[in-house]
Amino acid sequence: MDVKVDTAQFKLDGATYELNVRHGTIGPSVVDISGLYRDAKIFTYDPGYTATASCESKITYIDGDEGVLLYRGYPIEQLAEHGSFLETCYVLLYGDLPNNAQRKEFESAITYHTMLHEQMSRFFSGFRRDAHPMAVMVGVVGALSAFYHDSTDINDPQQREIASRRMIAKLPTIAAMAYKYHIGQPFVYPRNDLDYASNFLHMCFAVPCEEYKANPVLARAMDRIFILHADHEQNASTSTVRLAGSSGANPFACIAAGIACLWGPAHGGANEAALTMLEEIGTPDRIPEFVERAKDKNDPFRLMGFGHRVYKNYDPRAKIMQKAAHEVLGELGINDDPLLDVARELEKVALNDEYFIEKRLYPNIDFYSGITLRALGFPTSMFTVLFALARTVGWIAQWKEMIEDPSQKIGRPRQLYTGPVAREYLPSSKRI
Ligand code: SDX
Repeated sequence: MDVKVDTAQFKLDGATYELNVRHGTIGPSVVDISGLYRDAKIFTYDPGYTATASCESKITYIDGDEGVLLYRGYPIEQLAEHGSFLETCYVLLYGDLPNNAQRKEFESAITYHTMLHEQMSRFFSGFRRDAHPMAVMVGVVGALSAFYHDSTDINDPQQREIASRRMIAKLPTIAAMAYKYHIGQPFVYPRNDLDYASNFLHMCFAVPCEEYKANPVLARAMDRIFILHADHEQNASTSTVRLAGSSGANPFACIAAGIACLWGPAHGGANEAALTMLEEIGTPDRIPEFVERAKDKNDPFRLMGFGHRVYKNYDPRAKIMQKAAHEVLGELGINDDPLLDVARELEKVALNDEYFIEKRLYPNIDFYSGITLRALGFPTSMFTVLFALARTVGWIAQWKEMIEDPSQKIGRPRQLYTGPVAREYLPSSKRI
């Protein structure tokens, strides 16, 4: 699609500079400042990139004011309701819903790449048993490039394709192994007769001593949770993957960098932090105390699972996640989860509090996910691992788009320097 272009003027020190304004299909237009330093010898300044577009993309669109999320134009609500995670992977990677033949080929390719090089299982024994599973994920995913070097040439489209499919297929196996290692149980191999989510639950919860059959309602909920987490435009971890990829680093190293960034509590680590917060609050009568702390500028505490850089309305994923929580708890007969009561009451209190209304802070995807994942049987330390597993396809789709963009170049931001000007070195005898 040809991007429509207008112009804008920028005046500085008596000079006027013409800047191109580029319009997308939907969403805010952009002022192209790529020539500004060359022409006006001035940088723009936007710490945290709150108003800066780092790239052009056709993958995911978010309208933060309306609470809209589209993957390749398909609303997240429809994909979560009617689709599967692997179908969503196909949409993100190739741009459209697959026909039957395309779906079968893709599902088969993923199924037959789920096994990990047997030598990689020795990697896990190098970690302390109590290592956080995210530390294991960063290490083992980065090490994939040491075992699959036949798909690390980023300039070979075929190798890019193989590496992409390998990571989508192997991340559940690695995540399950990280969990099994963490709890001291033997690894469980993937099975080719199970669907993606059932296979993952089987690798996590099966033990050699007895038959394990994934509950289809829980497997469907797991699959839906993967769909909700699959991609989200240029968030911190995706931007990390794009920046790492812009140097020509191999795809496995780029995804490992994304996992490292996702771990932070302000980002993907919020699902773990949100559940810990709900446990710390414990009962609805303690909610006012925590809400006051969240509003106190002198207290670093924030309501985890609340607020978002882009959503200034309800995160559409949070609504679907809340529904999944009810489904899973209902299926498991957990009708009185005290944490769900605390979460619902906390949401009600916060959404009626002037501070949260004025700052447009709403529950995000991480607010309800912890309750659902805990009910599915995962320990809190595995929550961000599950987020990373699902987001791998989004990172890969964005990485591929960047690599295949003929205009892409190595990312290299500049700065506003406020440090010392040039000065002479002083021998230690002359220092005060
Ligand atoms: C994810 O980017 C993505 O798309 C991410 C993600 C994805 O799918 O990839 O959606 C996944 O990371 C979701 C967000 C998970 N994080 C949390 O739930 C942690 C708690 N939330 C906050 O840390 C915060 O809301 C952020 C980090 C999510 C967003 O922060 P911003 O956009 O930088 O906004 P800000 O920190 O400048 O906050 C604006 C104001 C501030 O007050 P003032 O300085 O204006 O007085 O709102 C306040 C903040 O103090 N604020 C909160 C708050 N979040 C923001 N106050 C209390 N509790 C909160 N949760």
